[in-house]
Amino acid sequence: MAPRRWVPALPAALPLLLLLLPLLPAARAGLGAYFGTKSRYEEVNPHLWRDPLSLGEAAPRAPPGCAALQLRAVLRHGTRFPTAGQVRRLRQLHGRLRAACPGAAALAAGPLGYEESVDGRLAPQGHRDMERLAIRLAARFPALFAARRRLRLASSSKHRCLQSGAAFRRGLGPDLGEHEVEVEVNDSLMRFFDHCAKFVALVEENEAAMCQVNAFKEGPEMRKVLEKVANALCLPVEELNADLVQVAFLTCSYELAIKNVTSPWCSLFNEEDAKVLEYLNDLKQYWKRGYGYDINSRSSCILFQDIFQHLDKAVEESKSSKPISSPLIIQVGHAETLQPLLALMGFFKDDEPLKADNYARQAHRKFRSGRIVPYAANLVFVLYHCDQVETSEEEYQVQILLNEKLMSFHHSNETISTYADLKDYYKDILENCHFKEECELPKVNITAVDEL
Ligand SMILES: *[C@@H]1O[C@H](CO)[C@@H](O)[C@H](O)[C@H]1NC(C)=O
Ligand SMILES: *[C@@H]1O[C@H](CO)[C@@H](O)[C@H](O)[C@H]1NC(C)=O
Ligand SMILES: *[C@@H]1O[C@H](CO)[C@@H](O)[C@H](O)[C@H]1NC(C)=O
Ligand SMILES: *[C@@H]1O[C@H](CO)[C@@H](O)[C@H](O)[C@H]1NC(C)=O
Repeated sequence: MAPRRWVPALPAALPLLLLLLPLLPAARAGLGAYFGTKSRYEEVNPHLWRDPLSLGEAAPRAPPGCAALQLRAVLRHGTRFPTAGQVRRLRQLHGRLRAACPGAAALAAGPLGYEESVDGRLAPQGHRDMERLAIRLAARFPALFAARRRLRLASSSKHRCLQSGAAFRRGLGPDLGEHEVEVEVNDSLMRFFDHCAKFVALVEENEAAMCQVNAFKEGPEMRKVLEKVANALCLPVEELNADLVQVAFLTCSYELAIKNVTSPWCSLFNEEDAKVLEYLNDLKQYWKRGYGYDINSRSSCILFQDIFQHLDKAVEESKSSKPISSPLIIQVGHAETLQPLLALMGFFKDDEPLKADNYARQAHRKFRSGRIVPYAANLVFVLYHCDQVETSEEEYQVQILLNEKLMSFHHSNETISTYADLKDYYKDILENCHFKEECELPKVNITAVDEL
């Protein structure tokens, strides 16, 4: 057996630390910012800690002289339970703990906390996330939500998304009259990644595509975290690996997001460790869902096209003074739905790719998935019809909000754009990016990463 490498002073101090850490608010605030896709929504909108229904100080307002015609929201489901795979892995780690080790005693004695049957389901907190998001969006866009009889609600077929859609609808209140809105399942829009053969073959099922992620797992930064955790748990470092350490960190994030408690698992990590584990999570998002490979974002063309088709239709209807047939379109999907779409649109793109060997240089990266797609993340397109526009003939304007904050358009640095300018900026995607062609498997036999 490998020698234990802990420092003699630590064993005595650790139990005390383990007892104290949950009580320190600083510990809670410290790690919560690094949970990547397992981040609580409040991390990106801290005013919601104080009042979950508040719109915040910088609440975006409709531009003067403009009336909202259509709102399209693409949502990520709310806070969820761990997946069965994560629970299994946690059980594996739990099984290796030694009760005689002071640093592991509290963890070994504690119950696991989750059964595999929770498998990725929406947590009670997730229901609240969605109800409250619905209330805030309705408060922001009262005229549109007054017309919610014509709400169209679509969802991925996953239970957590259907439940999120139902919670969102509940948040809008009971007065929908006899027209109870059905949640329609549409996986070709909300889980396009499953249906994109090229993505599945070349990224999802191609181990070589994750080479940067795997290299980082073996790299010096992770090694340091592994050794530290091994020391704390009195385990030889060979008994741990990046995946097991990550599941301990995930458990810390789940306890916080689901139960609002700081789990003893959190005390294995300090802020530096958390940054390393956040980078590991971001690397995976980057190579599997983001800019890493073009097909990741191109597979979302079907959703992008659908968004603009509905905007077009609303503009046409408005021009011919017809009522807008779909003033409100709410669609519930996954982080994996939103991230590729945001990449397709060019948001949060760093100058350099995220790689196993540039952790330090990426310290201030734009691509931080916890800031982009926490639980209940939402990307909202609002189409306006504007009167008094003296200098321009264009009456139609668009705003885009991510997590209830206005985004700046790349073509102008403004937070509002004419619809014509927006379409012009995305002309190439609108004209040339079509799901069927993009997702066709290439005829030649390639699985090598440099061919992707
Ligand atoms: C899903 O949405 C797409 C695009 O709007 C549409 O073509 C398709 O018919 C929808 N599928 C289902 C099952 O409703
Ligand atoms: C979460 O826990 C903190 C600290 O214990 C407490 O102040 C806060 O009110 C709790 N939040 C919720 C939503 O229960
Ligand atoms: C937007 O602002 C950034 C930084 O303020 C600047 O570098 C960039 O050139 C601007 N882009 C446009 C299109 O004005
Ligand atoms: C692709 O190439 C690999 C190795 O060259 C081979 O094992 C595999 O059978 C080929 N697949 C197809 C579909 O031709």
